Amino acid sequence: MSEFLANGKAGVTASIPAVVSSRFGVVQREGRVEIMEQTINPLALDIMSLLVDLDISTADCQSVSTAFDKLISISKRRRVANDMAKLKEMISVRLGPEASEREVGLRLALLVLGRDPLVATLGESLYRVFAANSGKKLCDIVYPELPPETGVPVVERIVVAPFEFAGCSFAVGDRLRVFLQSFAYVDEPRVTTSFFGGGAHTCLGRPLSIAIWEAITALLSEVPLRVQLLSYCTRDSDYVFTCPERLEVELSA
Ligand code: HEM
Repeated sequence: MSEFLANGKAGVTASIPAVVSSRFGVVQREGRVEIMEQTINPLALDIMSLLVDLDISTADCQSVSTAFDKLISISKRRRVANDMAKLKEMISVRLGPEASEREVGLRLALLVLGRDPLVATLGESLYRVFAANSGKKLCDIVYPELPPETGVPVVERIVVAPFEFAGCSFAVGDRLRVFLQSFAYVDEPRVTTSFFGGGAHTCLGRPLSIAIWEAITALLSEVPLRVQLLSYCTRDSDYVFTCPERLEVELSA
């Protein structure tokens, strides 16, 4: 997967400014904008389409990352399996009959692992920025270099070698939860790179996600309109990602 991403990286990175300016064009005019529906969700589908080199901009893959959630009901799990099958079918059709199971699976895995963390992290980060600067002109806001919030609050590991940390002993087989969201409350902006995990399983989408954040904040820094936060609510049935369901702002001169 890292080889696949490395091969496509230059093309996707070069397209980021164009994708951001087409999807975030709505914040350059006065009026109300629902940030999730009008900017972030379509932007993420554009980016993921470029990444897997297939047009999946019409795909309904909203539910698929719920597959990580161990608490969902059987009926919901059936719906996830159904949506996942539809997404897989869409990829197979677009790739053509010669495509191997591996080529299809790689793209499916990327769509599942990449889309929701990106949507959730951008949404939570813009909410934090707008909430702290409500009433200010977008061009007067000092934007953090890195996303200041994460949509991936927790990751899990199973301990394979015993160790001690901060006075706690961990034994082989213990389940360990790393609360990545806590880095949002450390008063040291660079620490938020830890949102992308560490070690062998560090997020493969990190450079891309940071480049997207930089392009969004560069665009916002040029807009001489005032932003007023109107409403924000998180997805209420998501135990895996922290993601706004709605994030509505008013832009005015
Ligand atoms: C800003 C948004 C993102 C955040 C906060 C994020 C966060 C993370 C974290 C914390 C992990 C480690 C999971 C673990 O240790 O269990 C991870 C893994 C991963 N991420 Fe991201 N991610 C983001 C965006 C993306 C995007 C856009 C892609 C696709 C290009 C992506 C692809 C992956 C992959 C493939 C892995 C698995 C790496 C491995 O297990 O070796 N991520 N991500």
